[in-house]
Amino acid sequence: MSHPEPVKKNDMTQTAPVDMKDIVALCKRRGFIFPASDIYGGINGFWDYGPLGTELKNNIRDHWWKAMVITPPIGPDGEPLQIVGLDTSIIQNPRSWEASGHVGGFNDPMVDCKESKKRYRADHILAFLPKDGEGAALAFDKDADSAEIDQRLKKLAKGRPQSDYNILTLDKVPVEQFPSIVGPDVKTPGTLTEPRQFNMMFHTFVGAASGDENKAYLRPETCAGIFLNFKNVVDSSRVRMPFGIAQIGKAFRNEVTPRNFIFRSREFEQMELEWFCHPDEHEKWFEFWVEQRKAWWKSIGMDMARFYFNDIEKAELAHYSSRTIDIEYLFPFSAPDFDELEGIAHRGAFDLTQHQDFSGQKLDYLDPVTNERYLPHVIEPSTGLTRALLAVLCDAYTPDPNRPSGVYLNFHPALAPKKAAILPLTAKDDHVPAATKLYMALREHFPVDLDIKQNIGKRYARQDEIGTPFCFTIDDQTNTDQTVTVRHRNTMKQERIGMDHALDYMRQNMSTATGH
Ligand code: GAP
Repeated sequence: MSHPEPVKKNDMTQTAPVDMKDIVALCKRRGFIFPASDIYGGINGFWDYGPLGTELKNNIRDHWWKAMVITPPIGPDGEPLQIVGLDTSIIQNPRSWEASGHVGGFNDPMVDCKESKKRYRADHILAFLPKDGEGAALAFDKDADSAEIDQRLKKLAKGRPQSDYNILTLDKVPVEQFPSIVGPDVKTPGTLTEPRQFNMMFHTFVGAASGDENKAYLRPETCAGIFLNFKNVVDSSRVRMPFGIAQIGKAFRNEVTPRNFIFRSREFEQMELEWFCHPDEHEKWFEFWVEQRKAWWKSIGMDMARFYFNDIEKAELAHYSSRTIDIEYLFPFSAPDFDELEGIAHRGAFDLTQHQDFSGQKLDYLDPVTNERYLPHVIEPSTGLTRALLAVLCDAYTPDPNRPSGVYLNFHPALAPKKAAILPLTAKDDHVPAATKLYMALREHFPVDLDIKQNIGKRYARQDEIGTPFCFTIDDQTNTDQTVTVRHRNTMKQERIGMDHALDYMRQNMSTATGH
């Protein structure tokens, strides 16, 4: 297999750089991400994107769209690929979710605790079962660290060492053992229910009546609208096999345990490509897309030492997939393990076959050259836009005790919400008119900030914390020789350049301003 050599799990040259709490705090302090309905105490699993978070998300979205739809990659034959975009409805005919398998199968095993009233995903809870069958069995959240586990074993199991236990996720534990397990948030055994399947699709009612016949679902993945429009696109566009259809948009899942900030949310955004090809060519295209996706993550400045390409074992594949490689990232909350960032799945002809059967419409493709009719196979690189944003934030977060802010965000300039800040040294004298003039000239070309008030150190600190690659400072000398200082975010080094040269300077230095 030619996809990139992954770093080995638990064998990292880089450890997780920071505590998630610090990232969450910065996101709120600087206006990247807020809890949804914050003034009402929030609502679990929902988030709002603030002024800078919206810009950052749009930049990631635009970069993906450009790489897929505007300038698609060059294919193995040296020709540019054909990929078109779509924007389909969040609510579709409910029959389509029966066809896709979501009504019957989009389930997670779920366990309730009768005492704490908490609900857990059984595959996210580790059960510690005493090897000798003596004493309490204890359950822990999958993210609990070793010290936390030892402390609880001390309290509830006389400090027995972890080696005394067999460890299984709760969904693998025989149900007759449940009464002896102490749940993660309680002190006595027997409060956990047996795992039940829980459908994660949000539903609503279309029209005035609210009976079963009006029930509809919010899409749990964006790709569905692509399959439903396969025939429309083939009939209306000039695409020929192989080709792709891309879509970016909201998806909704009633996750049992939303967690880790925006990582697992109930409302999120996805960026999905469905690549349709001849069934004989699926392996070639699978390899191709793994390479392409790696190149894309690299192109947005991510530290590839924090990536792991996980070839998913057959038993763990989703119902529609015969092969999947998950692109995983070393998030601060998962370290030293990795967690999923993107899935690249070979979906075969599953979706088109199902929709053909359920809709009664022919969805096969007629090759105009060979006259062969077939249902194409699909390779699907699917990434969460909001999860990508989280990975970008974690990757960029760089603690630095040598600067007043103690931290800066090392965004690739293409993603940075603001590409430069224009800072008059003082709010008086002639600094402000010159700064305004420069701001008006630059803002036609780049998103830039004009920040006038507060002392200059505080303003640099703010720009460091929001990841602005360049700060142009206007001082007394500006009015005598028309020069400004440029301060570089990563190095904090300053140099003097002609004010007229600022735009060219930005253009020239944009690609080299990232640390990775
Ligand atoms: N169409 C295939 C599909 O949806 P998935 O692995 O369920 O596959 C693809 O989701 C990507 O969507 C994930 O790799 C992740 O980045 C993102 N994603 C899935 N569930 C999410 C959630 N609850 N919150 C945020 N992102 C999510």
